[in-house]
Amino acid sequence: MTIKTGRAQGPAKITIDYDRCSTCGLCVKACSAGPLYMENKKLQADAERMFGCMACGQCLAVCPRGAIHVEGRELRSEDVVAIPPRETRASYEELYKLMLARRSVRHYKEQKVERAVIAQIIEAVTTAPMGIPPSDVQILVLDGKEKVAEFAQDMTAVWQQTRWMFAPWTWPLWRVLMGKEMVEMLRTFIYPLINFLLEKRARGEDWLFYHAPLAMYFHTSPYSDPVDPLIAATYAMLAAESLGLGSCMIGSIAPFIKSGATKLKDKYHIPRKNQQGLMLILGYPDINYIHAIKRTVAKVDFY
Ligand SMILES: Cc1cc2nc3c(=O)[nH]c(=O)nc-3n(C[C@H](O)[C@H](O)[C@H](O)COP(=O)(O)O)c2cc1C
Repeated sequence: MTIKTGRAQGPAKITIDYDRCSTCGLCVKACSAGPLYMENKKLQADAERMFGCMACGQCLAVCPRGAIHVEGRELRSEDVVAIPPRETRASYEELYKLMLARRSVRHYKEQKVERAVIAQIIEAVTTAPMGIPPSDVQILVLDGKEKVAEFAQDMTAVWQQTRWMFAPWTWPLWRVLMGKEMVEMLRTFIYPLINFLLEKRARGEDWLFYHAPLAMYFHTSPYSDPVDPLIAATYAMLAAESLGLGSCMIGSIAPFIKSGATKLKDKYHIPRKNQQGLMLILGYPDINYIHAIKRTVAKVDFY
């Protein structure tokens, strides 16, 4: 058996070079799905065993002798590259400083984000973990202020059509279906927000995407873990920060895209059955921060 994803079915192909294999067992230890095992002191591979080979690449990444080759499920031999030496990788201090300096940026320069920079962000995103390889994350790139504005206009049309569903007279029904927290969110956030965004839009102000010159919508297939696109968007945000860009996650559109908006989905090639994703807007910041802000999480519980 092998786990099916949106773009892979069946196991990857595992090849063992027995002339190189020293039977050290490291690959068996690292194998996360069960296809590699030892029998009679010899390494064995059965690509269908247990969860089947999903091409996670753990085995070939630990093999000191290059004795294992895995191909399939979108993994190609040229994807196996040298690991960057530890001294060239970001230290905790460097990473923490990058993270601490990041702010949600809502003011952007007119400057367009170069395609080469977008490519670097996407390259960084491809290093993100995913529930089951290969990743089903899809990225819609709205490249340019006009494209972002067009999407905002199409989103506005969706809200105009669906606003009644969140109006006060529907709240008792929401309470029964989704609980009191949902009604509190509707009353204090979602309904006023939609009204606010529509009102501002009517005056030519973009409080949805803040006239950003670039936006990326991360979404994923129904097979995937629902958080895969959120992790991908987070990687993109950090990569963007390292490249001198500002960014801001926009949460207010994905629930509407998920639950309807078929015309919008078709127009932007978002498969109708895809799961809720996350929008990230980006651009060169037109604002300069002097201070960083230290924050807390709600709770840390050691057990
Ligand atoms: C999932 C998510 C959704 C968000 N949605 C919006 C949004 O729709 N509009 C907006 O202006 N900011 C949005 N933000 C940005 C938050 O408001 C911001 O992260 C928060 O105020 C903390 O500020 P900081 O990112 O500068 O630390 C969102 C952030 C996240 C993580």
